[in-house]
Amino acid sequence: MLQTQNKEITAKEYELFRDLVYRKCGINLGSQKKNLVQSRVGKLVRQNGLDSFRDYYELVKNDATGKALSDLMDVISTNTTHLFREIRHFEFLREQLDVWLQDADWRKNRDAFRIWSSACSSGDEPHSMAMVIDDAVQKHTNFDYKILATDICTDVLETAKQGIYSEDKCETVPSRLKTKYLKQARTSDQRQLDPRLLQKISFLRFNLMTPKFPFKNAFDVIFCRNVMIYFDKATQGTLINKMVDHLNPGGYLMIGHSESLNGVNHPLKYVEPTVFQK
Ligand SMILES: C[S@@+](CC[C@H](N)C(=O)[O-])C[C@H]1O[C@@H](n2cnc3c(N)ncnc32)[C@H](O)[C@@H]1O
Repeated sequence: MLQTQNKEITAKEYELFRDLVYRKCGINLGSQKKNLVQSRVGKLVRQNGLDSFRDYYELVKNDATGKALSDLMDVISTNTTHLFREIRHFEFLREQLDVWLQDADWRKNRDAFRIWSSACSSGDEPHSMAMVIDDAVQKHTNFDYKILATDICTDVLETAKQGIYSEDKCETVPSRLKTKYLKQARTSDQRQLDPRLLQKISFLRFNLMTPKFPFKNAFDVIFCRNVMIYFDKATQGTLINKMVDHLNPGGYLMIGHSESLNGVNHPLKYVEPTVFQK
């Protein structure tokens, strides 16, 4: 077997991976990620008992199950996140929920509030949503909520399903919600999200590049945060417009604070920085 840890990925092999990741996942690796791909993908080459990066490329390309692509994305994507990241979105969500829940017309037309965390990483985003929403709906009987949490990586989804955090990771949670929903877990320096809230979240591996989204019900709010930075403008445009098709009229789309919809054709109304309404 080839000692891939000592072998450099060739320019041609890097281009093959770059093209594959772009076509399958929309992620533009640019020309700067060669070393990252070499070290991270090199491990997968070895784990699979293969002789070269080219062989591993062929394996991913020809794997109809999607498992090899999923493994590749697990090592390539950036999964940085934290609880209540970009907290203004969660404040906005709470304010808007309070308005909607008191609006008889809005309530009459739906059996539940539906929200989608579309690149949820290890779950901090949907877990934060759950705390905010549960707290808001509690006063209102007979009103349910459903959270869909998706990501292309499988390993982060497994972490997300646990809802376990070290004490220091909980520091960004507003203290009232922390006390209410993040209880001390197995060891004293860990907390776990209230299992009742975890049950409200459906975790699903989903590629945002999927040509036709399979979701039956439209969403009231979609978070698409800190993932579009990896996509080029054309890919962002296609994605945003598919999301618009799955948003209820009057519903909101939130994007990351360092992202923008400039240069993207879309029918949404600007509400405040990084918040748009259908
Ligand atoms: C930086 S994290 C953002 C997490 C969270 N939304 C936040 O703002 O804290 C980006 C996530 O996007 C996911 N991702 C990248 N490309 C994707 C794609 N094509 N489809 C679905 N998820 C994708 C990555 O796996 C990663 O978990």
